[in-house]
Amino acid sequence: MENKINWDELGFSYIKTPWRFLAKWSDGHWQPGVLTEENQLTISEASTALHYGQQCFEGLKAYRRKDGGVNLFRPDQNSQRLNRSAQRLYMPEVPEDLFIEAVTAVVKANEAFVPPYGTGGTLYIRPLLIGVGDMIGVQPAPEFIFTVFCMPVGPYFKGGLTPTNFIVSDYDRAAPNGTGAIKVGGNYAASLLPGKEAHAKNFSDCIYLDPQTHTKIEEVGSANFFGITADNEFVTPISPSILPSITKYSLLYLAEHHLGLTAIEGDVFIDQLDRFTEAGACGTAAVISPIGGIQNKEDFHVFFSETEVGPVTKKLYDELTGIQFGDVKAPEGWILSVL
Ligand code: PLP
Ligand code: COI
Repeated sequence: MENKINWDELGFSYIKTPWRFLAKWSDGHWQPGVLTEENQLTISEASTALHYGQQCFEGLKAYRRKDGGVNLFRPDQNSQRLNRSAQRLYMPEVPEDLFIEAVTAVVKANEAFVPPYGTGGTLYIRPLLIGVGDMIGVQPAPEFIFTVFCMPVGPYFKGGLTPTNFIVSDYDRAAPNGTGAIKVGGNYAASLLPGKEAHAKNFSDCIYLDPQTHTKIEEVGSANFFGITADNEFVTPISPSILPSITKYSLLYLAEHHLGLTAIEGDVFIDQLDRFTEAGACGTAAVISPIGGIQNKEDFHVFFSETEVGPVTKKLYDELTGIQFGDVKAPEGWILSVL
């Protein structure tokens, strides 16, 4: 299919691509899924996804290689995380083979929308699992829909590899034993107002602190946090209420095994930002987005630079994206070539 997309000017916004995958669960099992051109869902007004937030989602990308093929990056990890979300919200798991079948079928069917190699664009894939059917009591839904759609995207944060600034939020993103570690819509609904307030002050997004003591960095509203020390340590926060970012765990591995850094998951106290020479946000949408500075109450802390990406952050970016686009040899099992 022809399209008139200007690949160099993609942002992170919805574009309707021709095909999406849809499978329904009822009476204890998944029915075979289909590809459909219909991008509207018709569901019961009493669906638990609408009232009680019984829904979860994933985000992953397809990357055009130099040879014209297309890579997925660690889709098994997204499948496993979706199922951890599903378990916590009392939803049926989506078998890994169904998940991979759906994602692969959607990428193949929408291949014309995978941005060309070298443009920096990628095809963002959004798997979604929702509780549907007639249920007004606070109980699990009688039926579920698993759907996967996709769209070409560019940078999530406006700067791309140019640093942007973040502000520490007074709001909590998650409760200590709540749903912070799973990818459910409620976490993002709760982040809309803090995000809006941050944008109004010209910050890219919020940084949330740990909900118990408000002394440690948890994560950004849409990505995990990392810092680099002068001693070549790659440090990311550890907490049960952070979303376990697949990008973050990949970077921890690459930092240690490919770049010779010391990889540490540990506490990151908000009053000890001086230990970092560089900092960034990482995630599927965010990729690696350098953090220029962090506003914490009256204090504005600048890391490497407000205008230039730091050298270690750049090396991590090159290694990660090199693997994703197929230019750098990937660790075993990280790349699924679908085309
Ligand atoms: N943290 C939050 C709150 C997110 O929404 C995301 C995006 O998925 C991430 C972190 C990064 O996770 P991943 O690297 O698996 O995309
Ligand atoms: C992602 O990186 O996939 C996300 O889900 C972040 C955001 C767009 C919600």
